[in-house]
Amino acid sequence: MPFTLRPAVAADMAEIMRLERAGFAEAIQETEEAFAERLSAAPEGCWVLQGEAGRLFGYLCAEFWQLEPRFDPARFARNHAAADTHALDGEEVYVSSMVVDPATRGTGWGRRLFRDALAEMFARHPRLRSTILIVNPEWLAARQIYRAEGFIEIGEIGAYFASADGQRLPAIVMRRD
Ligand SMILES: CC(C)(COP(=O)(O)OP(=O)(O)OC[C@H]1O[C@@H](n2cnc3c(N)ncnc32)[C@H](O)[C@@H]1OP(=O)(O)O)[C@@H](O)C(=O)NCCC(=O)NCCS
Repeated sequence: MPFTLRPAVAADMAEIMRLERAGFAEAIQETEEAFAERLSAAPEGCWVLQGEAGRLFGYLCAEFWQLEPRFDPARFARNHAAADTHALDGEEVYVSSMVVDPATRGTGWGRRLFRDALAEMFARHPRLRSTILIVNPEWLAARQIYRAEGFIEIGEIGAYFASADGQRLPAIVMRRD
């Protein structure tokens, strides 16, 4: 089924939250307030895959950061406000989250959402020249997409994620210049 990539708007919130609940374990799901803050403070970074009849099949959230060659772990704090970190004149995209509807996974739309949303942001904001993100070691599909899109691992942030068995897992930091 063909989907259309477009900027997210406030009216997408119910669908974004449905995708969030389908995408992540309850303990790490973001709240509606967090998405509303991102949409308000960093609308340039919020994208959705639109299907038929108002249904969304994916979202991707990002911010623009000032480029720091050596990454600062504090910047990736889970509950940071986009209003504190997003800068329209930033040079680096930070991809904070991405989900594809489970009904659609494994058909290439995750990679396409990731690639096309980044391409749109870079086309609209010529100062951008780098992209950074963190990923849970257990999120194999996401890691495959990032590797395939040319990202390399540049470090780790220890004990960032909680695993299903209560252990803490590092966040792998990946960047593409
Ligand atoms: C990550 C996610 C968005 C990918 O969406 P998707 O539509 O399944 O992605 P694609 O169909 O484009 O496939 C992605 C790649 O991962 C691979 N893949 C899928 N599951 C895999 C697994 N368990 N192990 C290894 N690779 C896997 C696919 O083969 C494909 O690789 P290829 O392009 O080289 O063939 C989706 O799985 C998702 O929403 N996951 C839950 C939330 C999440 O992890 N978000 C990312 C971090 S914020």
